[in-house]
Amino acid sequence: MKFFSVFLALAISRSVLAVRHYDIVNNCPFSATIYINGQSQGSLPALGGKLARDYPENWSGLIYTDLNQGNPEGPGTARAGFYGQSNYYYIVRDPNWINVDVNITPINRAPKGGFCLSVDCKYNSCPDSYTSPPTAFPPPASGVPPASPLHSCPQAETGYTVTFCPTGELPNYQSRPNFINPGENNPNKCLDVRGNVQANGTPVQIYDCNGSGAQRWSILRGNTTVRLSGTDFCLDAGSTPGNGIGMKIWKCYDNLPAQQWYYTDDNRIALAGKGLCLDLTNGVLINGNKVQTWQCTDNNPNQVWH
Ligand SMILES: *[C@@H]1O[C@H](CO)[C@@H](O)[C@H](O)[C@H]1NC(C)=O
Ligand SMILES: *[C@@H]1O[C@H](CO)[C@@H](O)[C@H](O)[C@H]1NC(C)=O
Ligand SMILES: *[C@@H]1O[C@H](CO)[C@@H](O)[C@H](O)[C@H]1NC(C)=O
Repeated sequence: MKFFSVFLALAISRSVLAVRHYDIVNNCPFSATIYINGQSQGSLPALGGKLARDYPENWSGLIYTDLNQGNPEGPGTARAGFYGQSNYYYIVRDPNWINVDVNITPINRAPKGGFCLSVDCKYNSCPDSYTSPPTAFPPPASGVPPASPLHSCPQAETGYTVTFCPTGELPNYQSRPNFINPGENNPNKCLDVRGNVQANGTPVQIYDCNGSGAQRWSILRGNTTVRLSGTDFCLDAGSTPGNGIGMKIWKCYDNLPAQQWYYTDDNRIALAGKGLCLDLTNGVLINGNKVQTWQCTDNNPNQVWH
């Protein structure tokens, strides 16, 4: 019996492959869902959020995020790729330059003779990459690194660090369309473009959320426009902003004061530099109530937007 278990242990240890470690870092200024081979690994916080995965050394896969329209299925998304059988690693860039920058660096291995290079893919500058995942891999040649965009680090048993947005910035930021709900707890009421009429001057109102494009906005924390997603129309406070002035959409213009908002950390949407806040008129949630600007006041529930 003892002999048998020793034998079994030996047999198991023979079949166990070395483990390769993957540190995955979200250095983008936004939290991101990480995907590995189409499977969500959960959300990583912005600016340094990390997760670690260990896979057998012959594991192959693609690691990417959902930022900037990153697609869980993969296409059109910057990805870090690994082909374990041959110790290869590579980058697949987004051919449309929308998705994020990525870097792959072997852990604890200095570059030498073309092996173990750190591979970097930047927005609009990512020559050392594929535009779609390779389907065939040349066999490794002894002592010679593979031709770009493949890379190899034959002794990288310890693994790799994959960093998204290595510079800490997200170039070409594409915000996700958001619904904007009034007050603290009104997930069923949305900021809405009346009748979804995309024209200068259409009033902006409160309406039951119904998933319509009239209710999808692109907005960032801090300095921001409030753009009707996928259109050239922005939330506009008019040329004489003040208390009680009704909101509308207007063609978006760069640096137009009427369209420059500041989305505060306490969820107010303030007209930049004017002391005026986007305000739910009279606190009324009835469909069709046009929203307005009003002097920003602390703890005013009519000026809270989620
Ligand atoms: C890795 O190697 C193990 C053991 O030889 C094998 O069972 C497994 O199928 C291999 N995995 C891949 C992805 O090649
Ligand atoms: C959705 O809301 C809009 C208001 O923007 C309204 O015009 C439209 O009829 C609503 N659609 C449905 C299906 O309720
Ligand atoms: C917002 O814009 C103003 C005016 O352009 C600028 O002074 C300020 O630094 C900006 N704030 C942030 C957080 O970018």
